[in-house]
Amino acid sequence: MDYEVVLPAAGSGKRMGAGTNKLFLSLADKPILIHTLEVFEKDSKCTGIYLAVKPEEREYIQRLLNEYNITKVKGLPNGGKERQHSVHACLKVMKDVDIVLVHDAARPFILQSVIDRLVETAYEKGAAIAGVRAKDTMKKVREGIIVETVEREDLWAIQTPQAFRFELLRQAEDLAEKVGFLGTDEAMLVERLGHEIHIVESSYENIKITTKEDLIFGEAILKNRQL
Ligand code: C5P
Repeated sequence: MDYEVVLPAAGSGKRMGAGTNKLFLSLADKPILIHTLEVFEKDSKCTGIYLAVKPEEREYIQRLLNEYNITKVKGLPNGGKERQHSVHACLKVMKDVDIVLVHDAARPFILQSVIDRLVETAYEKGAAIAGVRAKDTMKKVREGIIVETVEREDLWAIQTPQAFRFELLRQAEDLAEKVGFLGTDEAMLVERLGHEIHIVESSYENIKITTKEDLIFGEAILKNRQL
């Protein structure tokens, strides 16, 4: 079951405070972006990668792709102001495929087994997203005061990849663009079409490298994998 993947990589990484795109920072021996790309480069079911990039970073990224022998990239469109715009830019240059995965370039630790289950479920049901069960007690807080303790049993922390039948995601993205709706993930846009979305249990290792501490966690995850 083949698929293509969209990797938004055009963020500014303000919360990292590195003064550069956080995806260019090294984890162990290579840039975060390369760790992520290599997952899909190695997966024989992945037939194409689309990377949304900042125009001023395209040349550098192209050099990285050559240096690390990443061969599956079919498109490097300009990203947009928000992540959703970057994903949309990729969908616009893609040809028809059955299944598309959207995955944050800043999540280098995604497991192959999770990708496999997402692709399978998207083929069968149309839409599937990765997530993990909430570990902490969850409360709703307003103006510093607890207003509700939310039943943890029903709560999941949502990650990427998110996998969809290509036509379903394109329809959801086109509608969102038309009405000016901005979601925090692709699933939110598909939910608005009333389509059922399935959850695939992922791993707590699949962190999004966001702040400086995440680099420490990331190094630890890599070290643990080498044991
Ligand atoms: O900032 P954050 O880490 O939440 O962004 C998630 C992913 O989306 C990152 O890989 C980032 O590069 C990408 N992004 C993008 N275009 C934006 C904002 C974020 O491609 N305008």
